[in-house]
Amino acid sequence: MFEKEIAKSIAAASGGALAEAEVEAALETPKESRLGDLALPCFKFAKTLRKAPPLIAKELAESLLPPDIVGRTEVAGGYLNFFFSADALCGRLASAADRDWTVTAGEREGEGKTVLLDFSSVNIAKPFHIGHLSTTVIGAALYRIFAFLGYTPVGINHLGDWGTQFGKLIVAVKKWSDIDEVRAKDEYFLNSLYVRYHKEAESDPSMDEEARAWFKRIEDGDREATAYFDVFKEVTMRAVGKIYDRLGVKFDSYAGESFYNDKMQPCLDILKEKGLLTLSEGAEVVRLDEWDMPPCLLVKADGATLYATRDIAAAYYRAKTYDFYKCLYVVAYQQNLHFKQLFKVLELMGFEKAADMEHVAFGMVSLEDGSMSTRSGRVVWLSEVLDKAVEKARKIIEEKNPEEADKDAVAESVGVGAVVFSALWNNRIKDIVFSFDKVLNFDGETAPYVQYTHARCASALRKGGDFDLAAADMRAISSEEGLDVVKCLLGFEDAVRLAAKTREPCYVTRYAVELAEKFNRFYIGHRIIGEDRGATNARLFLAYMTKSTLAAALGLIGISAPESM
Ligand code: ARG
Repeated sequence: MFEKEIAKSIAAASGGALAEAEVEAALETPKESRLGDLALPCFKFAKTLRKAPPLIAKELAESLLPPDIVGRTEVAGGYLNFFFSADALCGRLASAADRDWTVTAGEREGEGKTVLLDFSSVNIAKPFHIGHLSTTVIGAALYRIFAFLGYTPVGINHLGDWGTQFGKLIVAVKKWSDIDEVRAKDEYFLNSLYVRYHKEAESDPSMDEEARAWFKRIEDGDREATAYFDVFKEVTMRAVGKIYDRLGVKFDSYAGESFYNDKMQPCLDILKEKGLLTLSEGAEVVRLDEWDMPPCLLVKADGATLYATRDIAAAYYRAKTYDFYKCLYVVAYQQNLHFKQLFKVLELMGFEKAADMEHVAFGMVSLEDGSMSTRSGRVVWLSEVLDKAVEKARKIIEEKNPEEADKDAVAESVGVGAVVFSALWNNRIKDIVFSFDKVLNFDGETAPYVQYTHARCASALRKGGDFDLAAADMRAISSEEGLDVVKCLLGFEDAVRLAAKTREPCYVTRYAVELAEKFNRFYIGHRIIGEDRGATNARLFLAYMTKSTLAAALGLIGISAPESM
């Protein structure tokens, strides 16, 4: 925070010997606040300036004309330390008072840049289980984070709507149900047919034969087969649509695997032209030994194309359609190899944007009781997890706040929020063991804790009424606890920028918890509404800024912020 302004003044103080950017990169936040809010270690400049670091620090301090945000400086050994001014901090916060943080950042770094986000990308006719939670909420959070910073995000649900499972399902429906029943029932029913198919096909291999024939008919555009295919898609989309509504997730495109049926040939032609295709036991592959990878299989011996073939076609299509700045694939780390192969093949093909494709990988989610293991065969449906979290949240709210007027809405917000939060708390790559009790704890590093703090601010503002910023006595928020909140508030956009840069929404999640913690520390030590109107104005202002910033941070990660709970 404020690194740019401070670096500018240091560069000037050096008489041009140090470049602004190099100073900015060198500035660091000391671990202990008694060492200042920012520190410049001068060791790295000793060589260029041919002086001892302590002397550099001293000379810079002497000729420095610091911006108003710097209250004082201190030379400590080879460090030049900066302490922010309380007045300037409060002033900066006051001038941010009417910024609508829920909509956009002050600095729109992404203007004119399109970022594609391939996320959620569910598979048709397979259950939307808890394994899809991370891709959905990480992708949606990145979408909002990029939008906030001025980028133009495009959310693509690359549906898994192609493959032999559709043939299997047709066989199952024909044997044990009919198309009208499937349409009338839900995804659970569809899935039960799928499960039954797999059980029975074990002892009856002719079923697989039949399934392949049906899939072939889908490929050939046969009317009957296509009618089934459409119903499967309809039932699945209806089900996932409900989940997306609850999670507040939207997509700009649902162009999935089947969309690329007629778009692969030109890509295969390029591959052929460039001599990249090799025949291997009748199949066409791109050999990648040189890069220590197994070959990338693109066309099977029977002529069928693959997941990777469709991804190549999708890359070309997206480049042409969106002229993107980056194309991010939010997909589990199990597909690391797939994306490494894909990006390498694209590069070999001379695909211009190959270097702008990125795999944003994440770890596995499992439930505390182990019920998610695929071996036990029991899948945990995401809707079940959400329902259970909401039910538990409702019980807690009934206990804690029996007067709450809209228990259902608050329970939905808290329950769903808790689940979303759990997938956005850690670095993406970490595996998650999900525990209902942990995520619904009101005192931990959880969504309910942040939501509760938001409601606490809302309540203070309801009680305190309108505040007059011009008549605020900022000394009332200039205690150590108060300034901690002010600094944290001013650091919001930094947190969002870091999240965008690293593709790690957890920086926003952690920011929200940190702000809530800091505000609560202030709240415990200071009555918001007191005798002195000037002081009350300042503290209400702090509560107001905390409330709107918490709402904005939660909003970015897809969690709603109730006014009371
Ligand atoms: N449907 C795939 C799955 O569930 C994910 C697709 C990811 N996107 C892509 N373009 N490959 O595993």
